[in-house]
Amino acid sequence: MRGILLAGGSGTRLYPLTRAVSKQLMPVYDKPMVYYPLTTLMLAGIREILVISTPDDTPLFQRLLGDGSQWGLTLSYAVQARPEGLAQAFIVGSKFVREEPVCLILGDNIFYGHGLPDVLRETATMTSGARIFGYGIRDPERYGVLAFDASGHLSDIVEKPANPPSRYAVPGIYFYDGTVVDRARSLTPSARGELEITDLNRLYLREGLLGATKLGRGVAWFDTGTYESLLEAAIFMEVLEKRQGIKVACPEEIAFRLGYIGREEVLRMASSYKNDYGRYLCEVVESGEDQWK
Ligand code: G1P
Repeated sequence: MRGILLAGGSGTRLYPLTRAVSKQLMPVYDKPMVYYPLTTLMLAGIREILVISTPDDTPLFQRLLGDGSQWGLTLSYAVQARPEGLAQAFIVGSKFVREEPVCLILGDNIFYGHGLPDVLRETATMTSGARIFGYGIRDPERYGVLAFDASGHLSDIVEKPANPPSRYAVPGIYFYDGTVVDRARSLTPSARGELEITDLNRLYLREGLLGATKLGRGVAWFDTGTYESLLEAAIFMEVLEKRQGIKVACPEEIAFRLGYIGREEVLRMASSYKNDYGRYLCEVVESGEDQWK
């Protein structure tokens, strides 16, 4: 399975923070936001990834992430000229997808949780239909929301409904089969002028090809679209990392643990950081290859 990391958008909700710098390059505690969705794809076992961003920001992502080879990945880049919807990612990335299964993750969505890598790896083996997730929250009206019929089956998905049909929001990670590009091309723009991911998912749903998995309360999902949620995500990571002496979303560590890169490579990268991040990478190597710290 291939991966698309969509890091576009104008980020106006975070102005003035994001007037000059892409939202997905903002820090979430000790690393750039984009490291979190990138490593989520890595934990799903996905190594070929297309990063899509704006004309202005794409060079910045290239500077930060390079060609991915330092982490055993193959990263390529494409530009979304205008923010015309999440589903447009498949049209922009049509040459990359090439009728193969693909996972789309939004660059401002952060996931953390015990057991989550297993769920992702398992989902990434699918080859037909589409699979999304549902996550119970207090304010689902800010998101796409799942609706269920009387027997508990998924019956619809509604984008930012005034009266949410359930408390299950749809997080920004989606898995599709190789027909996704054609389906995305068949969409028409919504009232806000965008090709909506929710409309794409409804196409699959209408054909009985959409599965939705509920993520349990042991999983943390943050989007970082407001000042509050950005700070909350950072505080969550700070508390967790300090308490456990670990780093979440550390691409060097994950690449090492997955066997994509060896000790020497990690140590070489560690030496370029004269700080805690570098010290952590040295600890990772010392703790051994198959042992998650
Ligand atoms: C988008 C999707 C929405 C989804 C959300 C996840 O919303 O349209 O369905 O729940 O991402 O972050 P947006 O960020 O465009 O408001």
